[in-house]
Amino acid sequence: MDRLRLGIVGIGNIAPLNAQGYLDHPDCDVVALCEPREEKAVRVAEEWGVPKVYTDLDKLLADDGIDAVEILTPTHMHRDHVVAAAQAGKHISCQKPIANSVAEAREMVEAANKAGVVFRVSECALHYPPLIKARELIAGGAIGTPNMIRVKTLVGGHTNSTFGDSLEVEGYIWRFNELSPAGHLFDDVWHKYAAAIWLGDQRIRSVQAVVRQGPLFFEAPTAAFWEYERDDLLGLMEVTYAPNMFMRSEFFGADEFFEIQGSDGFIWVTRYTGQMLDLPPLVLYRADGSTTSFGDLDASWTSAMSGASKHFVDSMLAGTQPNMDADLAIQTLQLVFAVYEASNERRPVDPATIEGSVSPPWWPPYPSQG
Ligand SMILES: NC(=O)c1ccc[n+]([C@@H]2O[C@H](COP(=O)([O-])OP(=O)(O)OC[C@H]3O[C@@H](n4cnc5c(N)ncnc54)[C@H](O)[C@@H]3O)[C@@H](O)[C@H]2O)c1
Repeated sequence: MDRLRLGIVGIGNIAPLNAQGYLDHPDCDVVALCEPREEKAVRVAEEWGVPKVYTDLDKLLADDGIDAVEILTPTHMHRDHVVAAAQAGKHISCQKPIANSVAEAREMVEAANKAGVVFRVSECALHYPPLIKARELIAGGAIGTPNMIRVKTLVGGHTNSTFGDSLEVEGYIWRFNELSPAGHLFDDVWHKYAAAIWLGDQRIRSVQAVVRQGPLFFEAPTAAFWEYERDDLLGLMEVTYAPNMFMRSEFFGADEFFEIQGSDGFIWVTRYTGQMLDLPPLVLYRADGSTTSFGDLDASWTSAMSGASKHFVDSMLAGTQPNMDADLAIQTLQLVFAVYEASNERRPVDPATIEGSVSPPWWPPYPSQG
């Protein structure tokens, strides 16, 4: 394969950021869009220069001129859409979270394996330049042996973001009702769980947590901690809500902070979706007390989104498995649910024991009517 012919399935709120990496790639042709809202599909296809529009997924999947699909539909549809795409022989990139339950995720992976097609979950955190640099520094021994990975997500009361103002309300309804198994920790903190496993580069064997109900679909404050396979590596996840705080962000009214402490130093990644702090995106503190600021790194969250798309094309053309692979996607989903289960039952939970899904007791906060 020397070019990838791609179909994009679903053009809701996040599609423009995800599609950009495909549209910009010199060796990728976005040949079709699929979206039931025909008027929007036609308008967006014209804007992006995409030649074909489908309103029915089966018709797109029957198109022999498409090698691969990017699934950007609501999470509760991922299982059906991925299984159908695999059965049609298309290679698949599917947005996070992989699915609403571990059992569904396993069905998707089995369908892809049976059909012999490539399957990956598109996880932008794994393509955020400061996090990539942090992982490289850790692998190169810059902080010695990591012993604590701490990730903080802060959700504020308001922001001033053109992107936020442009979001369609339909994109939120399915996140707040029984079409989702849980709220913010499932939908968004997923990225941070994925990053914590990827940065630690090993499995998590036990989780303890307290998850509180917040407004809307938020679950804050939350504090979770876990044990990785290696005894002297622990992880900490905190999620807080600050209703009176203005958030400096071009996106969602939230921001993140990562700290990886090692035997010889530490690394801070000081932002992700927001830009709260007047600090370089990555700071390294070394054993001798010197610090290095990586101020020139591309710290824009849009680069993470388009980087994930570019990586899929590059991997397909190189014949290599793109990240995140099925194993990391299932580990991440199990960690998401293990945090809820540990909080619900006030006991340590081994994520590997979870095969279904787990909700917090108040879920869903806004059941659908009728
Ligand atoms: N990587 C990230 O940071 C990130 C951010 C936001 C969302 N996401 C993920 O992307 C996915 C979509 O999220 P969103 O916020 O864009 O949701 P959304 O509801 O705004 O968009 C979903 C789109 O899919 C369309 N759709 C529904 N049924 C379809 C079908 N059968 N065939 C084709 N299209 C169909 C909808 O009409 C809508 O346009 C979710 O899984 C979400 O978790 C990822």
